Amino acid sequence: MTVVVETIAALRAQVQAWRAEGLKVALVPTMGALHDGHVSLMRAALERADRCVVSIFVNPRQFAPTEDLDKYPRQLVLDLDKLKQAGVHLAFTPGVDEVYPQGFATSISVAGPSAGLETAFRPAFFDGVATVVAKLFIQAAPDLAVFGEKDYQQLCVVKKLCRDLDLPVEVLGSPTIRDAEGLAMSSRNAYLDAAELDIARKLNKVLRKAASLLRSGANEQATMAAARQQILDAGFDVVDYVEARESVMLAPWRKDRDGRVLVAARLGKTRLIDNIEISAS
Ligand code: PAF
Repeated sequence: MTVVVETIAALRAQVQAWRAEGLKVALVPTMGALHDGHVSLMRAALERADRCVVSIFVNPRQFAPTEDLDKYPRQLVLDLDKLKQAGVHLAFTPGVDEVYPQGFATSISVAGPSAGLETAFRPAFFDGVATVVAKLFIQAAPDLAVFGEKDYQQLCVVKKLCRDLDLPVEVLGSPTIRDAEGLAMSSRNAYLDAAELDIARKLNKVLRKAASLLRSGANEQATMAAARQQILDAGFDVVDYVEARESVMLAPWRKDRDGRVLVAARLGKTRLIDNIEISAS
């Protein structure tokens, strides 16, 4: 059974009771509209902890006024059913006033891995993410938290947040879940029609090719320029970025370092992001 709580006080009381029993607690922060990618995060959490908490909160602070906050898919009843099926112990589903009460005036800004990539297009995004994640970590006080590698820059920002603020939470990155054609699972895939889905499925193939070329020594600038063109040729309208970065601080990639090729591209009204390890074939 999944217990559902809406207040920080109820969340804390339950987690403290588990801790008093010596149980290890994992948190999976989400914005709902749960899909197989989220379920894989819950599985990873349940493999490593005795109790799993999933937060469902569409965080207004990480949406720019021009973005899809109102349109963002909300399906709490379906989500709660998924949590039950997955064996999640507690769902934390606070309202906006519980998280950001009247007069809330604090924002957390993480430099380093937040530079460029998403920030160039969504300047307030990572401040919103870092603020809500720090609050969730303080509210739930989990031993570990699981984030998807699909949002790779977010994962790096959250790890840095924990290191810099000495938050005693182990942050675990969990591999991206893809469909049979390699399309990364995302709540925003729900916006795509059939023709757009066909196009979206080509994105990971372009990334894989670019990553493999880089690993085998191809020129970075030429490889990235070719990847950008291939994404446009596949049918995407705009490529916000396609870049190679090293994998911890997301500094420019160097051939002797582990790296990722990261992309954001727009298709109709939908913006998709993805990334592939440079060593991946
Ligand atoms: O990845 C997400 O769904 C969100 O950015 C997160 C981490 C739940 C913070 O709102």
